Formats: sequence, C-alpha cells, structure tokens
Amino acid sequence: MTSFDKQAVAGSFSRAAADYDSVADVQRTVGGWLLKSIQHQQEIRNALDVGCGSGAMTLQLAQRLPIAEVDAIDIAEGMLEYAVEVHDHPQISYYVGDAEEIPFEEKAFDLVYSNFMLQWCPDPVRALTDMRRVLHRGGQLVLSLPGEGSLRELAEAWATVDAAPHVHRFMSEDELADAVAAAGFAHADILQRTLRVHVPDAVTLMRSLKALGAHNQHPGRATGLTSPRTLQRVVDAYEARREPAGLPVTWKVLILEARR
Ligand SMILES: C[S@@+](CC[C@H](N)C(=O)[O-])C[C@H]1O[C@@H](n2cnc3c(N)ncnc32)[C@H](O)[C@@H]1O
Repeated sequence: MTSFDKQAVAGSFSRAAADYDSVADVQRTVGGWLLKSIQHQQEIRNALDVGCGSGAMTLQLAQRLPIAEVDAIDIAEGMLEYAVEVHDHPQISYYVGDAEEIPFEEKAFDLVYSNFMLQWCPDPVRALTDMRRVLHRGGQLVLSLPGEGSLRELAEAWATVDAAPHVHRFMSEDELADAVAAAGFAHADILQRTLRVHVPDAVTLMRSLKALGAHNQHPGRATGLTSPRTLQRVVDAYEARREPAGLPVTWKVLILEARR
C-alpha cells in the first residue's frame, strides 16, 4: 500500500480539470485501446467508468454501448463539474465517488471500465476488490494504468540532479498480477504495451504532467520550489536524448482484462 494523500490527488485533478483534455493524448489513445477490447458491446446494459476524469472517454464509452446506462465516478469534484458541462450525454450519470469505496450495490454492472486511474489509488487491491464486487457474475473489467518504466527519461534526467523521487512510482506487471489475484479475479489477462511519444522540450512535458494532475504525489518527493539552476540541469540532461521528432517520452502501459 502506498500512503500518498487522496485529498491531495483530488485537489490536484480538480485544479487540472479545465486543461486536462488538451494534454491527455496518451490517455485518449490508451482509453481507445480499452474501448476496442470490450466484448459483446451491443448487449451491455449497464457500465461503470471508475476515475472518469473529464468524461471524454466516458462519452466515447456511452457512444459505443447502444443500450447501456453508463455511470461514472471520480474523486475530483472539479473534474466532474467539467464532465457534466462538456461531456454530458443522455446515457451518462456522473457522481463523486472513490474507487476504493464504490458507491454502488454488489453485482450492479455488466462492465467496469477504468482508464489511467489505478496508479492514484493508495490501496490498489481494495480498488480492484470493489470493482469485482460491483460486477455481475461473468461481467468484464477493462482497465489500464501506466506501469513501471513509464516516464523513465524524465526520472533519469532528474536523477542527474538529486536522489529524491520526482516521478510517480508506477506498478510493475507482477505487482498488478498479484493485486488482481488478491482481489479475487480468477480469470485475468495482463498485457504490456509500450507507447513512445515526443514532446518539444522537458519543460513542456513537466507542465503537461501538471495539467494532467499527474505530477508526483509521493511522500519523500521534493516539495520546495525548484531553483531555475536545478531545473536547467534537468532540462540539459533530457536534451541529450533529443531525436528529430523531439524529446522521447516512454509509457509502459499495463492493460488488464478480467472477468468476475
Ligand atoms: C489520469 S486521469 C484519467 C481520467 C480518465 N479516465 C481518462 O481516461 O481521461 C485520473 C483520474 O482518476 C481520478 N482518481 C484518482 N484517484 C481516484 C479514486 N480513488 N477514486 C476515483 N477517482 C480517482 C482523478 O481524479 C482523475 O480524474
């Protein structure tokens, strides 16, 4: 279990809500992979999006499931206000709710969808256990999260400056497999896919991680202001990796498909 502060995560994402969609390309790409992996889409009657964020993927989910009522929860109220305003749809209902204490009855859903959320849960086993609890018997869970090795170039650039954790500590595939088993899922497949994108420079990457609400929240992180000199050293270290398309950013995405 990790001990980062859930209220801090909620506050950070609420503040990020207005800018989130403009920087969430990786999340949309991976969210699209998850949508394609949903089975029997025409027959799904009820679905839950856990950690729906801005609602951009929730809307795509609803558009794919012709007869489904789609409920969506997030702990960040600011995200939900944005979702209701920008990504509303007659099939969707948005609620404030915690993935570790999902505010729905047992066996309420044919499908649980969760894109790039689990990495923010202090207790991923508890979240996965609750996702299983709200699934019908035979119901499907499709879930993604960035795994170990994601943002490795940024972590390595910071490591040239100091030893503090400046990048989120992401789960390994084995840790996810253990968590899924501990949550009681008998049938689960985990796939790791690497997504390599480019950014114009390191400062743009750090700004977009902040706009994603996704900057480091771990205890032990450096909390003071970074001096311009330190930042410049990180920028210079990252620059050494420049390619014709820009600075590379690696995401090691873990994709989970499981059935209750
Ligand atoms: C990176 S965003 C992903 C949003 C959306 N799923 C997407 O694909 O664009 C992560 C979201 O998870 C939410 N979140 C973090 N911890 C949560 C928790 N314990 N319960 C519910 N939502 C949570 C955050 O508030 C944020 O909106």
